[in-house]
Amino acid sequence: MPSTTRRTVLTAAAAAGITVTAPGTARATGSRRGATGNTPVRELFGRLADGTAVHRWTLRNGGTTLRALSYGGVIQSLETADRHGRTADVALGFDNLDDYVAKSPYFGGLIGRYGNRIADGRFTLDGTLHQLPVNDGPNSLHGGDRGFDKRIWDVEPFTRGADTGLVLSRTSSDGEAGYPGTLAVRVTYTLTPRGAWRIDYEATTDRATVVNLTSHTYFNLAGEGSGTVDGHLLELAAARYTPVGATLIPTGELAPVAGTPFDFRRARGIGTQDRTPHEQTVIAKGIDHNYALDKGITARPEYALTVTDPGSGRVMKMYTTEPGMQLYTGNFLDGTLTGTSGRLYRQGDAFCLEAQHFPDSPNQPSFPSTVLRPGRPYRTTTVHAFSTR
Ligand code: BGC
Repeated sequence: MPSTTRRTVLTAAAAAGITVTAPGTARATGSRRGATGNTPVRELFGRLADGTAVHRWTLRNGGTTLRALSYGGVIQSLETADRHGRTADVALGFDNLDDYVAKSPYFGGLIGRYGNRIADGRFTLDGTLHQLPVNDGPNSLHGGDRGFDKRIWDVEPFTRGADTGLVLSRTSSDGEAGYPGTLAVRVTYTLTPRGAWRIDYEATTDRATVVNLTSHTYFNLAGEGSGTVDGHLLELAAARYTPVGATLIPTGELAPVAGTPFDFRRARGIGTQDRTPHEQTVIAKGIDHNYALDKGITARPEYALTVTDPGSGRVMKMYTTEPGMQLYTGNFLDGTLTGTSGRLYRQGDAFCLEAQHFPDSPNQPSFPSTVLRPGRPYRTTTVHAFSTR
């Protein structure tokens, strides 16, 4: 972050009287009521093997409570009210740091440098071949073995008007995880007075590189650990999606969703669709595909989708500047992970909707470009709005 911007954030934080507790003064347990009003509160969540402290920040605003970690920018929990005003944590996660480090399938993670897959972990940029370490069969997934979701971020709280939030920043060095260019990254999590969660991603590089940042929250609007999301209704404004080959790399085609289980242009049950046999659902064990949003790339976040849980009445709408949306229906959850509230997570127990550029864009000339060059900042925004019906 440029020092002037950093100063502005700090000054704004001081002016707003933000409470920052010293590490270790608040315990991770029994702290769920840690934030008062819309003042961000920090507590110690755990320590990495080398002793590095990991903090958890609690933000509250407009009926939403969001808890984020300095490890991986992880959204550790997200509480919203149902139609009767009862709150539940709608994001899958763990109650301890060790599980995030040892076995998280990107729960709540801030994904970089590249969301989703790059075929064979390889791409050519300006005539130079870059080989990334592979971590998903033959491919690189979500920035590799140690992507942004496994790094420590600097976190600064702020309140601005009625908004409250966190600025997460870190510099990814030239060559980190195989990617060229020093990348200065700044991600802002904001909770608005209406309880919406907004993410602003910014990055600059000193050398040409590829970037595709996203957030990998697993949602269950009935509450994490409460069962499958089969009954959730999804409406997704996309007439086309990107079919994949055997290792989930897009074929390059933009195929119509019409007449396939991928058609969510009118609200449909997630379970009725991702359990429908189709060459593509068989490959992915359900839906694990990128949609080309009808709106394309936009300067401001525009409407992409609505998810409704008829049982609780919770509704989540997403708006984004991004051209793509990965729908992943938790196909690889297999009952081996115990979640925040002590229940096993099983296949279909969550959905991820990751606003992004398309997978494997560095190798797909027909897809919108993910190349970032010096002097042209990367900026994208995604908003999650919560309501009930
Ligand atoms: C990918 C899945 C992958 C999952 C990991 C999703 O974004 O599309 O294929 O298994 O992330 O949690």
